[in-house]
Amino acid sequence: MVDVLITGANRGLGLGFVEVGLEKGYRVFAGVRDPNEQKRTQLTKLKEKNSNQLEILHLDVTDEESVREAARNVGESLDVIINNAAILNGRGTSIEDLDIEAIKLAFDVNTLGPARVIKHFLPLLKKGENQSIINISSEGGSLTNAYSGDYPYGLSKAALNMLSEKLHVALKNEGIQVLS
Ligand SMILES: NC(=O)c1ccc[n+]([C@@H]2O[C@H](COP(=O)([O-])OP(=O)(O)OC[C@H]3O[C@@H](n4cnc5c(N)ncnc54)[C@H](OP(=O)(O)O)[C@@H]3O)[C@@H](O)[C@H]2O)c1
Repeated sequence: MVDVLITGANRGLGLGFVEVGLEKGYRVFAGVRDPNEQKRTQLTKLKEKNSNQLEILHLDVTDEESVREAARNVGESLDVIINNAAILNGRGTSIEDLDIEAIKLAFDVNTLGPARVIKHFLPLLKKGENQSIINISSEGGSLTNAYSGDYPYGLSKAALNMLSEKLHVALKNEGIQVLS
């Protein structure tokens, strides 16, 4: 069975990845940052239907201890990591009006979050099969298609792309593919 970790799995694209993983027969570890059940009703319904295949994990990508603990709660090995969790903050704010803290926050979630997840889950991934790390990027992080605005998001996703490239080089000889 393929074991896959998905961050930010309670809604949006992350929830969609969970559904696809379950349909394909994978074992899915669904990371959610908020222990409040109200925020994950759809995931809870999926858990009721697929109790053997789906594990819901508390995982706040900005909190290294939460990431470390989540890794301890996944079995012996893992095959796929999907770093999906992200925020899109400070939209449409000009650089003159931008609170620089907004850039720090975007980096904390969108760039450092995946770095923390990979740091703590890579030992499990190294014991898996046909392994992949998938970092969900965005056109907002494209250097060649840069557009005005979205400074926090764009900077953090461009840096995430560099993390993906570096990991691709670092891990290719171990047969682990890294995708943006
Ligand atoms: N939607 C688009 O058009 C689009 C386009 C290009 C790229 N993307 C990328 O695709 C991915 C998913 O986007 P989306 O539109 O599905 O986003 P979304 O609906 O806003 O969902 C974001 C998810 O990330 C979670 N999250 C936020 N901060 C977190 C943290 N500190 N720790 C753990 N989880 C956290 C959220 O949890 P809460 O529910 O608790 O807030 C939520 O589950 C992102 O990486 C985004 O950048 C999206």
